[in-house]
Amino acid sequence: GTIVVLAGGLSHEREVSLRSGRRVAQALRDRGCTVFESDVNSDLVTLLRDLDDPVVFPVVHGATGEDGSLREVLGLLGVPFVGATGADSRVAFDKSIATSVIAGIGLTTPKQVALPDEVFRELGARALMDALGEAIGFPMFVKPSRSGSSLGCSKVNGPEELASAMVGAYAYGDVAVVETYIEGIEVAVTVIDRGHGPEALPAVEIRPDSGDYDYASRYTAGSTRFITPAQVPDDVAAACADMALRVHERLRLRDISRTDIIIRDGVPHFLECNVAPGMTETSLVPLELEAAGLDLGEVCEALVRQARL
Ligand code: DAL
Ligand code: MG
Repeated sequence: GTIVVLAGGLSHEREVSLRSGRRVAQALRDRGCTVFESDVNSDLVTLLRDLDDPVVFPVVHGATGEDGSLREVLGLLGVPFVGATGADSRVAFDKSIATSVIAGIGLTTPKQVALPDEVFRELGARALMDALGEAIGFPMFVKPSRSGSSLGCSKVNGPEELASAMVGAYAYGDVAVVETYIEGIEVAVTVIDRGHGPEALPAVEIRPDSGDYDYASRYTAGSTRFITPAQVPDDVAAACADMALRVHERLRLRDISRTDIIIRDGVPHFLECNVAPGMTETSLVPLELEAAGLDLGEVCEALVRQARL
């Protein structure tokens, strides 16, 4: 059957997704697979209906791709696809929901408050400054609840920076989360299931030259140093792997996921989990695979095989 690599979509991460899609499609072609690349649009249903026995590899980031909507359509059409179902993606993609689910199984998360934009408008920045200063404390970190690639994220060092950070987050969605800023070692752990259960790859440590792992540091080649495996003690590395596996299982993320973590004083703090992690030249999953001695195409092929079962 044909593998359909879906990339693009209409989210703010469209360009990233197109890069991820090209990389996955090429890696699968290098393995001799028949690959069809498609954007996410109204032609998709016809395409999937006309192909013989298609299987979809969604590499669509952000809204549509990770919020569950695309995956619901695929589920409805009965087309097998790589990764979590629509319903499970929706939960994992929403940072305020995912964080409370993960805190609920006893894993360490930053203290977090979710704020819809209408609440922000009603209460006003001044009242919120006081309330959040008390509940969370400075420095804090503000991000859109449903987005990715660090878009709309900012560190807030003091009350005077809060209002613009909130407005920045609302540019990407109607709910913002405000959480404790965790100073520490930033790592990511990919979990893959190649047919014999979920396995955690060695953590990659992220050291952006600018100090911030923002959009530019993510997608400008050479602007971030990656260290694999992360330079942390063995027990801390094991705790990170354990966290990623528990997150993957609790959020019911089939096939592949990437959990982002900050380690402070040897304790991993859950930041978020990605249902359709980036696969670009500068993204973390391909780096982790390479460091683990695994071939991207071979792994993608195994995920596709798994999706068909
Ligand atoms: N949201 C981007 C694609 C990532 O997490 O890699
Ligand atoms: Mg993300």
